[in-house]
Amino acid sequence: MDLVQLQHKIRVVHDFPEPGISFKDITTLLCDGESFQYAVQQISEFGRPRDVDLVVGPEARGFVLGAPTAYALGVGFVPIRKPGKLPGETIRKDYQLEYGHDGLEMHADAIKPGQRVFIVDDLLATGGTIQSCIDLVLRAGGIVVGLGFLIELQYLEGRKHLAGYETFSLLQYAD
Ligand code: PRP
Ligand code: MG
Repeated sequence: MDLVQLQHKIRVVHDFPEPGISFKDITTLLCDGESFQYAVQQISEFGRPRDVDLVVGPEARGFVLGAPTAYALGVGFVPIRKPGKLPGETIRKDYQLEYGHDGLEMHADAIKPGQRVFIVDDLLATGGTIQSCIDLVLRAGGIVVGLGFLIELQYLEGRKHLAGYETFSLLQYAD
């Protein structure tokens, strides 16, 4: 398995979920065991030297990559969820998406102050989702030691909002 083979496992769907959006469908990668394992291994290898205490991932696709990354690193996983799903006391951040907007919540007690957090999501687009995740982790007292993505849409320039954070993406789309 190499990155060219991996990228071919992603299905690009034009005009979904609305005209003008070129959707990167990772389900076609996830259903291939060798590809899924390779992707998680690569993201985990970026996190491994960073002395990670916790992996944090945003619902829904961030769970699919974040939870196995945490398992591979032998650390815990903290979900960031869409509003109204978490039963305990939460902290909330409203955010803007490539399309639409929403909010994200995390349990207020999920991260102990000073814990070293690796945030993992499937995709870096505008960066709105990951910025919201960073905000929640910092408000909880965590230290963000890395950001890991399967895919980066470079043309949306999300990375320019992430200066100062160690940011890794496995696959990039230039246009
Ligand atoms: C998608 C994707 C990332 C986010 C990236 O999530 O999974 O989390 O958009 O976009 P951004 O960098 O512009 O914020 P989405 O909110 O569509 O929901 P899902 O993960 O529940 O499918
Ligand atoms: Mg998402």
